[in-house]
Amino acid sequence: MRLINYGFLLLCSLIYLGCGPSTADVSETASNTESAPSLGAVYAPNFYIGAAVNRVQLDGTDSAGLAILEREFTSITPENVMKWENIQPEANRFEWDMADAYVELGEQQDMWIVGHTLVWHSQLPDYVKETTDPDQLRTYLEEHIRAVAGRYKGKIDGWDVLNEALNEDGSYRESVFYKVLGEQYIVDVFRLAQEVDPDAELYYNDYNLNNPEKREGAIRIAKLLQDNGVRIDGIGMQAHYNLNGPPISQVRNSIDAYAATGVKVMITELDLTVLPNPWDLEGAAVEQNFEESEMMNPYPGGLPDSVQIRLADRYEELFRLFLEKHEHITRVTFWGIHDNQSWLNGWPIRGRTNYPLLFDRQFKPKKAHERLMQLAANRD
Ligand code: G3I
Repeated sequence: MRLINYGFLLLCSLIYLGCGPSTADVSETASNTESAPSLGAVYAPNFYIGAAVNRVQLDGTDSAGLAILEREFTSITPENVMKWENIQPEANRFEWDMADAYVELGEQQDMWIVGHTLVWHSQLPDYVKETTDPDQLRTYLEEHIRAVAGRYKGKIDGWDVLNEALNEDGSYRESVFYKVLGEQYIVDVFRLAQEVDPDAELYYNDYNLNNPEKREGAIRIAKLLQDNGVRIDGIGMQAHYNLNGPPISQVRNSIDAYAATGVKVMITELDLTVLPNPWDLEGAAVEQNFEESEMMNPYPGGLPDSVQIRLADRYEELFRLFLEKHEHITRVTFWGIHDNQSWLNGWPIRGRTNYPLLFDRQFKPKKAHERLMQLAANRD
């Protein structure tokens, strides 16, 4: 379990905020610090600042991204390497290398280490996806959770036990798990995770959890677990947002509603697309192919300053809310370290150039990063 070095991080924060120890102390201390205070350091008094880590940071291919991660962040989440299709691609055949490297990185850096994700309908191997027998599916789930959560027992600080089990109207997604096992699978997988690693926090994670109907679904899951005497420690709001939405009021109402059930709230996959999407276009057929469309990929050569400022404004608006709700929020994780890594360069349209994160393709901090640092400095 990670207890990040609050003393050092807090000192960094105090130095950065200009209310630290005397000049003599600061100069001595500053000479000992490897670099100026970071995002993780200045927000350490409020919540962890995390980033999704991919294979390229773990195998050394993206050393620049890894350097940013180690300097700026205090928590990590595996973008893909711990997903079922990657870690157990066939029944009883496990691929541990990348997941081991991920956990080792988190331990070396003394970070809050998240496991993502034990049970998800997507990125499932066919042997699971095509199971129709309830007993067989329960066996697959039990074997997977015991193997994966068991291997990293005492090392993973919090598991996304269940990811994206809801539809937009708050009803249960018709995943193979729900279709074959019904609602009971939710109780069973959380109970098993709690048994296998009793010290890890246990989360339900989903997107669009600002949506009032879906919010009710997430609250139903939390209460289902609590009514069955099974622990749920947190609800993860993925927060794949954009420059114009969702409204801050919806996000605030969801944070309050989840906190009212007694769980922690985490922002788990934060990014802000700056590109238009097919569904934004009046009357556009969503299946219409936009891959070569300049209209849908307006900034192939770089992001105009005006949009950089809008991105900074939107991140500031969100972080003002997260600071307002910091008693409920334990972590804010960005879904990537820098723009070149973002899944949003390829979704929902392949081959675009998006700019959703705090570091650019030259691994430099963007205006949005500077704005969040200023926000922390002016925090009351
Ligand atoms: O590693 C292979 C590579 O060998 C191959 O050449 C390449 C082309 O086929 O595919 C690579 O795998 C891709 C993988 O990302 C790693 O880049 C998969 O095809 C691709 O599907 C996968 O996408 C991931 C997506 O989840 C899958 O649904 C994204 O990186 C990842 O950011 C995204 O993350 C999800 C969260 O887990 C859950 N919440 C939503 C979020 C966005 O979809």
